[in-house]
Amino acid sequence: MKSCASFFNIAMTQPLDTLGRPLRDLRISVTDRCNFRCTYCMPKEVFGRGYQFLPREELLSFEEIARLAAVFAGLGACKLRLTGGEPLMRRDLEGLVAMLSQVPGIDDLALTTNGSFPLERIAALQAAGLKRMTVSLDALDDAVFKAMNDVDFPVAAVLDWIEASAAAGLGPVKVNMVVQRGVNEGEILPMARYMRERGHILRLIEFMDVGSTNGWRLDDVVTARQIYEIVHAEMPLEPLQPNYRGEVAERYRYADGGGEIGIIASVSQPFCGDCTRARLSADGKLFTCLFAIQGADLRALLREGAGNAELSAAIASVWQRRADRYSELRSQQTAGLPKVEMSYIGG
Ligand code: GTP
Ligand code: 5AD
Ligand code: SF4
Ligand code: SF4
Repeated sequence: MKSCASFFNIAMTQPLDTLGRPLRDLRISVTDRCNFRCTYCMPKEVFGRGYQFLPREELLSFEEIARLAAVFAGLGACKLRLTGGEPLMRRDLEGLVAMLSQVPGIDDLALTTNGSFPLERIAALQAAGLKRMTVSLDALDDAVFKAMNDVDFPVAAVLDWIEASAAAGLGPVKVNMVVQRGVNEGEILPMARYMRERGHILRLIEFMDVGSTNGWRLDDVVTARQIYEIVHAEMPLEPLQPNYRGEVAERYRYADGGGEIGIIASVSQPFCGDCTRARLSADGKLFTCLFAIQGADLRALLREGAGNAELSAAIASVWQRRADRYSELRSQQTAGLPKVEMSYIGG
């Protein structure tokens, strides 16, 4: 990742937003569907049988995604992350990875998955050019995990996915755990011990108020400070420098040299000031914030036959108008506004 253009190294052709932030990361949601129903993300009451997911023809094709990725790369994006929903629900995701790995200027290509698929796919993804794997796992205890994923999916299969990903060279694997008070905070230490022993990077994430269906309440958030205290009391931590400006996780190492852990404090210590992330939804809308209400319709432009120069100008103009810093404003000015769901815009 060192070769990825820095926050400061900005070429003439690269747009800055109204707060001086360049565009560096593109997070691509390839589907709004998922085989899990995590209670904090796709609660069954809302995402039940009758839920209308995006129809197939509205999804960007792999060719369309790869073309847009190349245009974004021309504007400064050098990191790509595939998200969803669950990206592996999209057939032949490996084919998309192969196409994206050929895009000039992209030097980091990562996937966020729930790790619930046949392990053969890992080698195929690696062979196609995937560089890094991030796996969501909210507990080591089966009962707690099943209550959270709400589809009775066992922990063991996800642990196998994590080990197989590391063995395939897609590590160190990052393991995302959303911490919810009264639900899984008791899993913080078991997860930290387990991941540390095996050399994976656990990332403890504050439960966020994304979307409007997960019944978020500030009281449900275990803050980064509280998470830190829980881990530090048993396994002393020392802060590490960020890998790059704008990194979402605060990094720590275990003082005894036993590896790394991260805490993502999007609620209690927002990191909008350095946010260089753009999001492309599965139906081709460009969102400049996880909490945005509206996205710019790039699919319409693509399907009207726009050339790359036109696409590039459209994206640059959206970026140049960008003023988002939702997490910093949260509650004061944004309470009650409608929001898009994380399963649609990408985690
Ligand atoms: P690296 O590429 O490894 O640095 O990944 P990352 O640090 O971007 O982490 P990842 O993409 O796995 O994101 C982890 C979690 O951080 C997400 O699931 C979200 O909960 C949260 N997150 C990521 N990006 C943003 C963001 O732009 N805003 C906010 N508020 N939260 C974010
Ligand atoms: N708060 C924080 N993170 C969330 N994710 C989904 N919903 C939330 C939320 N409400 C993240 C999880 C998961 C990724 C796909 O999205 O980290 O790993
Ligand atoms: Fe699916 Fe991930 Fe959302 Fe869980 S958090 S429902 S695995 S997209
Ligand atoms: Fe970036 Fe919006 Fe998240 Fe702030 S809230 S870090 S601007 S995506």
